[in-house]
Amino acid sequence: MKSLYKRDRKESDTRDMKSLYKRDRKESDTRDMKSLYKRDRKESDTRDMKSLYKRDRKESDTRDMKSLTDDRMRKVAVVTGANRGIGLAIVRQLCKQFSGDVYLTSRMSDNGKKAIERLKQEGLNPIFHELDVSQPDSIRMFEEFIIERYGGIDILINNAGVSFGKDKVPVFRQAQLCYEVDFMGTLNMCKIFLPLIRPHGRIVNLTNSYIGKKSALGEHAQNKLDVSTMSLSDLWLVMDFYIKASKTGTHANGGWPESPKQMTKTLIVAMTKILSRDLKGDPRKNILINACCPGWTDTDGSVEFRDGVCKDTVLQSADQAASGVVWVASIRPGQSSPNGEVVQKKEIISCDF
Ligand SMILES: NC(=O)c1ccc[n+]([C@@H]2O[C@H](COP(=O)([O-])OP(=O)(O)OC[C@H]3O[C@@H](n4cnc5c(N)ncnc54)[C@H](OP(=O)(O)O)[C@@H]3O)[C@@H](O)[C@H]2O)c1
Repeated sequence: MKSLYKRDRKESDTRDMKSLYKRDRKESDTRDMKSLYKRDRKESDTRDMKSLYKRDRKESDTRDMKSLTDDRMRKVAVVTGANRGIGLAIVRQLCKQFSGDVYLTSRMSDNGKKAIERLKQEGLNPIFHELDVSQPDSIRMFEEFIIERYGGIDILINNAGVSFGKDKVPVFRQAQLCYEVDFMGTLNMCKIFLPLIRPHGRIVNLTNSYIGKKSALGEHAQNKLDVSTMSLSDLWLVMDFYIKASKTGTHANGGWPESPKQMTKTLIVAMTKILSRDLKGDPRKNILINACCPGWTDTDGSVEFRDGVCKDTVLQSADQAASGVVWVASIRPGQSSPNGEVVQKKEIISCDF
């Protein structure tokens, strides 16, 4: 396995992750979240000042300065992949329950804006921003926007995920899409936005506990996923190895899952546990990060499973699914649990990690 990793690293065409990964390696360990946070704060403070300065110069009006200050006092919640399905329902519920601005983000502007119109007709007031989580540039642009306008964020829900419907998508293509959207999308969003999360902030990463269990892996694979010691870079190496192996159809060797979706959802649980471990001792108070399985839901995202794992299950509505997700995102300030857990329908469940 080790040599496979080495070879993969050499051949690596890791594109988006490469720079983040390099940065991590240079800084020797992603566990050092504290210093990452400090450094990022410094960087973002400079960017804040810069953009504040630019905006001041342009608008040259103290009233604008006042509204900017008002925005920076406001709480902010962000949901990825929110133009349809569970993400849209999460935004709907946040708009009703959360006292702050709620961002409905979507990779396609038209679809996102249509979703906004739909919620506006229901009397709600979400705000749209384009965000393709598979594109680091898109994440960075959104980060800049959030820094400039708010200076921080209170709730981040990483909901975006690929779904394959009934289409017969080759395994390698599935692996690549799951890697880009579910795995890297969630990882990059966490890494880039974690430094901006305010005290008592909440991050929720959507997973699928029915397929994302560690015990569903073979022994070798289980041993590789030791979240008490591994870093995010180690996790990325595992995923990188898997997508490359899927090109030759050898991805399931060593006890890894046949299904790329299962692989990514398992790694999202591992990622959440690693991030939560790394956050211990963070100077900001009471930041909680959890994985959440919404349960089988009647959306496009469950179509590929309807003849398989969820064949005999009565599917819930997207609004029912969203209430469990919003519950995890709304854990009261000061409450310390759940943290680093998998939550499903408001209860902590085991994914055998
Ligand atoms: N449905 C279930 O039964 C179930 C069960 C367990 C877990 N989950 C998880 O819950 C989450 C939501 O599921 P769902 O059923 O609502 O899925 P869905 O109906 O397939 O919706 C997925 C959303 O993700 C968006 N998306 C895809 N690629 C993206 C990208 N690169 N950047 C930003 N957004 C992107 C989609 O946007 P487009 O419209 O542009 O494609 C869509 O808005 C997923 O993570 C899923 O794995 C679902």
